[in-house]
Amino acid sequence: MIKRFNFSPIINTGAVVKELPYDSGNPVPFTLKNNAFSLDMDAKTRIYGLGETVRGINKRGWIYESWCTDEPFHNEDKRSLYGAHNFILVDGKERFGAFFDTPGKITFDLGYTDSDRIVITPESFALDLYIVTGDSLKAIVAEFRALIGKSYIPPLWAFGYGQSRWGYVTEKDIRECADNYEKAGIPLDMLYLDIDYMDSFKDFSVHPERFPDLKAFAAEMKERGIRLIPIIDAAVKKQDGYSVYDEGHEKGYFCKDENGEDFVVGVWPGKSVLPDFLNPEAARWFGMKYKALTDRGIEGFWNDMNEPALFYSEKGMDHAIDEVKKLDGGELDSLRFFGVRDVLIKLQNNADDYKSFYHNAPEGKFRHYDVHNLYGYNMTKSAYDALCELRDEPSLLFSRASYIGAHRYGGVWTGDNHAWWKHILQSLQQMPGMNMCGFLYSGSDIGGFNGNCTRDLLIRWMSFAVFTPLMRNHSAFGTRRQEAFAFGDTEAFRHIIGLRYRLIPYLYSEFVKAAENDAMFFRPLAFDYEEDEIVATVEDQLMVGDSMMIAPVYVQNAVGRHVYLPEKMEQIRMHEGYISTEELNTGWHYVDIPLGDVVFFTKSPIPLAKPAMNTSELDLENVEFI
Ligand code: GLC
Repeated sequence: MIKRFNFSPIINTGAVVKELPYDSGNPVPFTLKNNAFSLDMDAKTRIYGLGETVRGINKRGWIYESWCTDEPFHNEDKRSLYGAHNFILVDGKERFGAFFDTPGKITFDLGYTDSDRIVITPESFALDLYIVTGDSLKAIVAEFRALIGKSYIPPLWAFGYGQSRWGYVTEKDIRECADNYEKAGIPLDMLYLDIDYMDSFKDFSVHPERFPDLKAFAAEMKERGIRLIPIIDAAVKKQDGYSVYDEGHEKGYFCKDENGEDFVVGVWPGKSVLPDFLNPEAARWFGMKYKALTDRGIEGFWNDMNEPALFYSEKGMDHAIDEVKKLDGGELDSLRFFGVRDVLIKLQNNADDYKSFYHNAPEGKFRHYDVHNLYGYNMTKSAYDALCELRDEPSLLFSRASYIGAHRYGGVWTGDNHAWWKHILQSLQQMPGMNMCGFLYSGSDIGGFNGNCTRDLLIRWMSFAVFTPLMRNHSAFGTRRQEAFAFGDTEAFRHIIGLRYRLIPYLYSEFVKAAENDAMFFRPLAFDYEEDEIVATVEDQLMVGDSMMIAPVYVQNAVGRHVYLPEKMEQIRMHEGYISTEELNTGWHYVDIPLGDVVFFTKSPIPLAKPAMNTSELDLENVEFI
């Protein structure tokens, strides 16, 4: 059951697809005082949800801020990442879900200030609150998901393996990458184009020398079973003569400052302007620009920098230069160094900048700061709506920033993580929270975006990522190469990525089932075994679809790990060249998992396809069951 409480929302966020009447009275079980919703917890209370955030599956014990942020360090002490997913599921004396539908900042203090109290403080009370109840944790999620609408289902080929790197600059780089995969006999379905394919990072342009004939090149790759997936950034380069800028400027489609002038920010293309995705006309205009690439045979996109990320604003930069000048003179001492550093750090994603530009939404004019969390959502929606018009087939689409509701239009990737062992676990722990909010097509940058990857780390990360719907290896400019062929010996990668393809019949059908039934593809064990006291504390295993449980290795040099089985299950060991199975009883087990073996656990037989080099070669009719 869902109850909806009215706190004077200012805008239709688009999160919800079902119109519910308002309930009168208090939003029990919360107490409303001091402009916050609070609730006492007993020792056993657990809290799930909040989508893409740091820390464990049980969110209790930290403070989170819903504020879409371009955050390149996903450390434990961070409060916000790229998504704003304001749904929590409280499993305590009372069991309920709560969705705070508000476009601005909201803080979830989940036992941080007082370890036994939840305190949720929206910065503005312009919100709708939904309290969701049900017979089980899964039922509450299903009820919530029915409220927010069906999840995006990508084409089957998007379940193939993808290689990306910020640093493939030319057609030649991409072709070489495809050749290396082919030479190593490693399957591949997608090669991603990062910002360098564009001309001066201008959206919808193609660099004339680096990709002289993108259409022919996309066709050549498609012939080899590989699709090219270009990035689209939110901001548009401010340059007279660049048609996207000229048109948008003339039509008034960019966000404006308080004087009605285009608000100028600095991101990859240098001085840029922000399309006003909250204005439906502007959103449609931007979305239809994808045609420049779909006309060249492109079938999928990743939308980036749409928090929106701001390196600086023109105004902020002028101010910072003045501030730095004030620090000039005197001795060059350490305090001056810190002074200059702090002035420059504050330039990025600055709240004052977010307060100084405006949107033209159907409900009226809004200060960006008050509706910040809707920007990425609306960029994804604009692309999705346009792609439905531009193409007859389903497209691949995923985004960095998101708000609840965006799950209907695309997937999300978890942004700029690091080549750290703890980020394998982080990625696993993020999946159930995102699934609760409908984001089923998701995954992390395998091997880590920032930092230098090692062969062992990549093997272990892949051994987990074979189960994530989005399976993409991506890394940053200047980092060590981390393609599956980059470490010399390719045997282990051929085996693991090959296994992904064999698992696609199971993964894709379980994914589609989850999308159609408003269910979760990845679930904490506690959702399936509510009576089992032990599973509630298991933070590094997940249920995947109806029949499978995973327990990956995420510790450097580990050769196995403890695994908890909530019931009798079959242990499936996929070793290079053979599969072995063993029945294991309920309880704790130490399981050997040498580097390169992929081990998982099943409750019932799962289908396994024959090996294939890409999804177009997959034989979905003739599968064996293990
Ligand atoms: C952002 C994205 C990253 C991309 C880079 C360059 O940091 O998160 O994936 O590679 O921009 O476009």
